[in-house]
Amino acid sequence: MEHAVVTGGAGFLGSHLVDSLLEDGCRVTVLDNYGSGRPENLSHVESSQLTVQKHDVRDTFPEFDDVDIVYHLASRASPDDFGSHAVEIAMTNSQGTERALECAREYDARALIASTSEVYGNPEEHPQSETYNGNVNIRGPRAPYDESKRFSEALAVAYEQKYRMDIRTVRIFNTYGPRMDPHDGRVIPNFLSQAIRGEDLTIYGDGSQTRSFCYVSDLISGIRNVADAPPEAAAGDVFNVGNTEEISIQTLAEVILKVVDTDSGVTYKSLPQDDPEVRRPDIFKITSELSWEPSISLRTGLERTVPYFEGRLADD
Ligand SMILES: NC(=O)c1ccc[n+]([C@@H]2O[C@H](COP(=O)([O-])OP(=O)(O)OC[C@H]3O[C@@H](n4cnc5c(N)ncnc54)[C@H](O)[C@@H]3O)[C@@H](O)[C@H]2O)c1
Repeated sequence: MEHAVVTGGAGFLGSHLVDSLLEDGCRVTVLDNYGSGRPENLSHVESSQLTVQKHDVRDTFPEFDDVDIVYHLASRASPDDFGSHAVEIAMTNSQGTERALECAREYDARALIASTSEVYGNPEEHPQSETYNGNVNIRGPRAPYDESKRFSEALAVAYEQKYRMDIRTVRIFNTYGPRMDPHDGRVIPNFLSQAIRGEDLTIYGDGSQTRSFCYVSDLISGIRNVADAPPEAAAGDVFNVGNTEEISIQTLAEVILKVVDTDSGVTYKSLPQDDPEVRRPDIFKITSELSWEPSISLRTGLERTVPYFEGRLADD
């Protein structure tokens, strides 16, 4: 039985990954400091195959009997935290990544690094393929996150070359779904929370900036495809994972106003610094090489997400 260590496993994506691994008969150890994750994200799990340890990945990892794969997802990912938790984020994606890679090295395990579309910054190439090197403002407000994720990838490449390890990287594009923190500051949680509360949806800028949104079950199957592919297909490689359906923020607001039964309208505020104007993955590589593509439409994904947000906001 495969033993997977999942850093950040009490978070939004991590907890769905844990569900998927347990379903497939894996033994799973979660390491999470609960900085942005919550024990409740795993409280539905009854399996004896799951161990959850409160642990900060910036510290030396605990000892295990064996490890087959380390999924390194630990990192705050909310833009609201990029300023207030800047050093923590930068160190989690540098020192924390080193610890995760060391753990994989010690047990001769594979590693899967969760990178982000933010490595492309405000892109001058559209859509963004894995060969695009990005346009990140080194000193801007998003830099502690963006640059540390870039470093995380560079460190993974260095480890792979120096120690001949099997390390795979996924660049995750905007993903949404149940267990996402309603207060996390990203656009879908913001709009859903405002719509459910009957408040106007806040659009930053004129709403013409575009994004593409992937439903969480699609994203997890993409991560699993990369992690489980044979070494000759994925070792040492990087794959974009996301949905290519690109929509403007204005259109997203209109869809959410239809999916949530609400009287909310829309208000506009000025655009924050370094907010990307366009964002859409080029997923040709993962589609052609690993036969993965997303299947859940935005409308269906939102309909599946609304009940979770209604429940969380009722508890607030
Ligand atoms: N959700 C997205 O749209 C998206 C997009 C791109 C990349 N990602 C990446 O995917 C990963 C998971 O993101 P998410 O959306 O689930 O966010 P999340 O905040 O829900 O999950 C992150 C988890 O990591 C934990 N964590 C943070 N710092 C830690 C530390 N130092 N030690 C131990 N645990 C720590 C948090 O407590 C949380 O449980 C992150 O690496 C993020 O950068 C997510």
